[in-house]
Amino acid sequence: MNLISSILSSTSLIASLSQVSTNGGSLLGTLSAPFLPKFLEDGPLPRGFPWADASAQHTNPYEEVPNTGKIRPYNFVIERGILSPDGVEKNGLLINGQFPGPTIEANWGDTFQITVTNNITGPEEGTALHWHGLLQKETPWFDGIPSVSQCPIAPGSSFTYTFRADSYGTSWYHSHYSAQYADGLLGAMIIHGPAHAHYDYDLGPIMLSDHNHEEYFKIVQRFTGSKLVPNSTNNLINGKMNYDCSLTNLTCTPNAGLSKFKFESGKLHRLRLINSGAEGLQRFTIDNHTMTVIANDFVPIEPYETNVITLGVGQRSDVLIRGTGRPTDSFWMRTDISDRCSHSNQPHALAVIHYEKAHASAVPTSQATYFTDTNCSNDPISVTKPLFAMAPPPEPAFTQTIDIDFQANATGAEVWVMNNQSFRANYDHPLLLLAKLGNTSYPDDPQWNVYNFGKNTSIRLILRGLTPLAHPMHLHGHNFWVVAEGVGQWDGVVTRPENPQRRDTQLMDFGYPYPAGMSYTVIEFMADNPGVWPFHCHVAWHVSDGLYMNVMERPDLIKQRQIPSIMAQTCRDWWDYSAHNIVNEIDSGL
Ligand code: C2O
Ligand code: CU
Repeated sequence: MNLISSILSSTSLIASLSQVSTNGGSLLGTLSAPFLPKFLEDGPLPRGFPWADASAQHTNPYEEVPNTGKIRPYNFVIERGILSPDGVEKNGLLINGQFPGPTIEANWGDTFQITVTNNITGPEEGTALHWHGLLQKETPWFDGIPSVSQCPIAPGSSFTYTFRADSYGTSWYHSHYSAQYADGLLGAMIIHGPAHAHYDYDLGPIMLSDHNHEEYFKIVQRFTGSKLVPNSTNNLINGKMNYDCSLTNLTCTPNAGLSKFKFESGKLHRLRLINSGAEGLQRFTIDNHTMTVIANDFVPIEPYETNVITLGVGQRSDVLIRGTGRPTDSFWMRTDISDRCSHSNQPHALAVIHYEKAHASAVPTSQATYFTDTNCSNDPISVTKPLFAMAPPPEPAFTQTIDIDFQANATGAEVWVMNNQSFRANYDHPLLLLAKLGNTSYPDDPQWNVYNFGKNTSIRLILRGLTPLAHPMHLHGHNFWVVAEGVGQWDGVVTRPENPQRRDTQLMDFGYPYPAGMSYTVIEFMADNPGVWPFHCHVAWHVSDGLYMNVMERPDLIKQRQIPSIMAQTCRDWWDYSAHNIVNEIDSGL
């Protein structure tokens, strides 16, 4: 009997645990989770919309961000807490007692104002939250990266992030302090913007995430400095799945409860898929249904159809699904961690889709959609075409080649390197704040891995993968163009030069046949966002092992910025805390 049938043999759809025991205060994955509106109707609507007549097809989303003046306040308290998302008790890091954390929602051009209180105790830890995919052009210091844009929020302290919802679509936020987010410090971020597809129901965020029963700190302690990564122990949809309790000695309740979604026959449903995992590459399918992709990350694209959505960690796809079933039907929604690209002991996640007249306890009997697992790439960049066309400069102002490799360092620890240099954070001295003071080169600290691109207006990074592992590469502060990808050496040819795919995270496949194989991914972006921007693999265990660099962009303009005093105060609080307490930075820090 394979894993999934052993889980299902004990499955009725009557959950044995309450939602409070599995997910705390979160309603995600329950039939009480609300459908999302087309936009939040609680502010001024010039010409009928919060964003006036901006459109996805005709408005440059980077240069014409609206300012609605509307504040979206949230209050986050971070504490440890025990939940059993899949029936196995885990001591996690929770926001307001929820897993996944609260969904934050705004209209394009609103301002989020999120006060984060660090009440992590037993033991204490610093923390900081990152708003994945936002550009943060006005407020680079609120990007949430310890050692880069801020000092960590000291235990017992609060910090308020205030930033514009400068992009629209589907994303998430997560802790960027060590691998904390693998213990639950994350949530969905939905920003409503101009329509670029018609649909009847917005089912909201669907978070696909590998899951580890072991706490992140112990995993990092065990694996940092070694080539190995842990096998995740389960796979979750909106923080829920069942587990075969015979596989663990931990406190475990079988049949904890699956996520449930409702479909209506004949209607069109929007699903916002987010890979919020630590390592696993997800392949998402719905039995008997095809999907139309309408956005990748924060970039609306020309719709195309597919049976399977591939998402690396950090990536999102918005999909439309026609309710082709009958009113009494039920189907499985599935997401599977790739066997080829990732490491999991239980890679299969299930959720239930009930049509409007289906029995609440009807166990679907539908068959899984077949898909191939023959590479670790996203859908071909020749297929994924942004709705709003933008051409990168054919000759970028500056080109940098980056070799991604795995090496033993001087002390024998095995670490990830970019151009032979592994990253390690210094929590005490955020680079952006140093750059503001005119300090932009750090010869004594090569492990800060800073690439100062000076006044160059456009930058091309030629990434070369030299190991047989795939990486979802993520750049902060930008949607980059993916101008080429493939195996071997890049021949210089750009895919669809007049309008290449843009997004903020792109899967980089490994070269095969290995060991001789090599892969390339070539990205390009305009240096239009003065700041210090993380560029890293989003696999938590790889960034913990140093697969990270900083893009320093327009330091001349960083110097002219007014940085709010909360940034210096946060460092003073952190210095005071770390002077009296041991900060156990057992990985790269990020
Ligand atoms: Cu999702 Cu560096 O982040
Ligand atoms: Cu990686």
